[in-house]
Amino acid sequence: MAKVKQTTKYVCSECGTISPGWMGRCPACGKFGTIVEEIETVSPSQVAVKKSDYPRPVKLSDISREKIVRKKTGIDELDQVLGGGIVPSSLVLVGGDPGIGKSTLMTQVAGVLSKTQKVLYASAEESSAQVKLRCDRLKIDGDDLMLMNETCLNNIIEEASDYDVLIVDSIQAVYLEEMNSSAGSVGQIKECASRLMRFAKSNKTTVFIVGHVTKEGAIAGPKVLEHIMDTVLYFEGQPQDNYKLLRAVKNRFGSAQEVGVFEMREDGIFGVKDYNGIFISEDRGTEAGSVVIPSVSGNRCMPVEIQTLLSKTVFGMPRRMPLGVDYNRTAFLLAVLEKRAYMPFYSYDVYVTAMGGIKLTEPASDLGVALALASSYKNLSIEKTTCAFGEIGLTGEIRPVMQAEKRVAESIRLGFKKVILPARNLSQVEKYKGKIEIVPVKHVYQAIKLIFDGDKSAE
Ligand SMILES: Nc1ncnc2c1ncn2[C@@H]1O[C@H](COP(=O)(O)OP(=O)(O)OP(=O)(O)O)[C@@H](O)[C@H]1O
Ligand SMILES: [Mg+2]
Repeated sequence: MAKVKQTTKYVCSECGTISPGWMGRCPACGKFGTIVEEIETVSPSQVAVKKSDYPRPVKLSDISREKIVRKKTGIDELDQVLGGGIVPSSLVLVGGDPGIGKSTLMTQVAGVLSKTQKVLYASAEESSAQVKLRCDRLKIDGDDLMLMNETCLNNIIEEASDYDVLIVDSIQAVYLEEMNSSAGSVGQIKECASRLMRFAKSNKTTVFIVGHVTKEGAIAGPKVLEHIMDTVLYFEGQPQDNYKLLRAVKNRFGSAQEVGVFEMREDGIFGVKDYNGIFISEDRGTEAGSVVIPSVSGNRCMPVEIQTLLSKTVFGMPRRMPLGVDYNRTAFLLAVLEKRAYMPFYSYDVYVTAMGGIKLTEPASDLGVALALASSYKNLSIEKTTCAFGEIGLTGEIRPVMQAEKRVAESIRLGFKKVILPARNLSQVEKYKGKIEIVPVKHVYQAIKLIFDGDKSAE
């Protein structure tokens, strides 16, 4: 049999230059910390592939359809985020800050799946006794679940060959002995992940990979391997909060907008069915500066309260402190309000918070944020039963948004009395006219005049 030759090379992840060894700075592009170790496998038989052996192009209509049969994890929220359940032989990354609940969720999933399939939980971080302790706390019956305490990835893969599901906890703790770099380095993480990908596809095993995200995001974190994965899920939320959000940031088999809401309890992590009280406060509307946005993530609409606070700038530079809302988007909205609605914010420090630790990424939250800021500026509160959504352009115009119908329907269900929305979305929500007061607006100045001064003449 022809011998497979493996060599290690050091490649700059920015410019692709190959160096003889690891260096702190790439000699070609001059960037620091970009050189990554990679394994090159050269098999003589691979080189000598006969010309006629490669797969020929085929008509799309001749390709037989594969029906995806999804498997339920037993945790409804997780199934929803995955797009309806686990797709067999897929590679799923579950990332998040240390201590957020990744191992807890995966242990629960393993417990449920082990009833119907062969599941191997490879724990590279904790000892088997520690995992057992957690299983006892989560009341998982361990008769069918197989545990492995191993850090060498080749051993894990060899052992997992006759399992249906493999869970690797975590990718930063496993290593390949062929590589010189230590476990957790970018080179190791990338190579381990692609090894697991090949294993998942060739062995038809579903592989879950647990990964930590460093505060900086990219360095040695799971960010570097997002493109290899079929599905990437990230846990969000403050460590001190009991509520955690699981967000799909990539999904080859479903929407990448889905969000699941979980509650961390002593006996495990559970999906929250009624999440409506989590992102809005009971006593909203009494103080100026807050409004509710019917925010859509994937298939669901969640009402999220935006709170803002202005305080006089003490030092020369005013501070902008958004939490859960994009920094640049906040600066953009402040500039629009200043120019188009005549509200100067340059002498104020501005604080903006989306309640419950959720991150609002869609532009439909613009109008809500702008109204909350205007409410703070005017020191006039917005009624508790009012909600608003709409995108704002640089000219101050309110642009239509997606899924207006869903947002209005959910606002009605939750007992809101008034919804402020883009005028160009009006035709889609006409049918709800008797159930909620619909206020269509075309411009941010008009919206502010209408809400705070009751002035209907402004356009
Ligand atoms: N006895 C307990 N009662 C209640 N909550 C607990 C208990 N033990 C642990 N927890 C919760 O579980 C969390 C840790 O969960 P878990 O180990 O799944 O997190 P992780 O994301 O895997 O962390 P790591 O990055 O360390 O692997 C803790 O932050 C804590 O809130
Ligand atoms: Mg863990």
